[in-house]
Amino acid sequence: MSYLNLENISLQEIPKISDPDGRGNLSVIEKDVLPYKIKRVYYLYDVPSDSSRGGHAHKELQQFLIALSGSFDVVLDNGINRRTITLNRPNKGLLIPNGVWRELENFSAGAVCLSLVSEVYQEEDYIRQYDDFKLFVGA
Ligand code: TYD
Repeated sequence: MSYLNLENISLQEIPKISDPDGRGNLSVIEKDVLPYKIKRVYYLYDVPSDSSRGGHAHKELQQFLIALSGSFDVVLDNGINRRTITLNRPNKGLLIPNGVWRELENFSAGAVCLSLVSEVYQEEDYIRQYDDFKLFVGA
């Protein structure tokens, strides 16, 4: 596969229903908000502020990340360029296509990262060594 243009990856608005009586907001993901059927949901929480998660790419899997609470940074890497996107609102999500190296860092206290995933868990889909990733994208 060839490397992806990171400029095409951006935060996406999640439909929000504000309560007319001031009872707060509700966001919903259904229909064509995501370009795939969700096969798995997982979430990261209690991540120390000096820890990082991710540090891998996927061969096929796509995922949509949402900061349900708090904030964190997602560093995207296509093998050539890097780009950092901050997630800090529950009604914004980041769709990470396959073939992109990602690192999640700078977790705020109480941050919760929800991940809606296109595939069930398969270790064979992971690329965990950066050199292997560079070979994979041909960079
Ligand atoms: P990993 O995806 O490497 O975490 P992160 O990218 O957030 O740092 O997963 C950490 C461990 O959890 C690893 O041993 C695999 C396991 N795991 C599952 O068993 N099922 C899952 O759905 C996920 C996401 C991870």
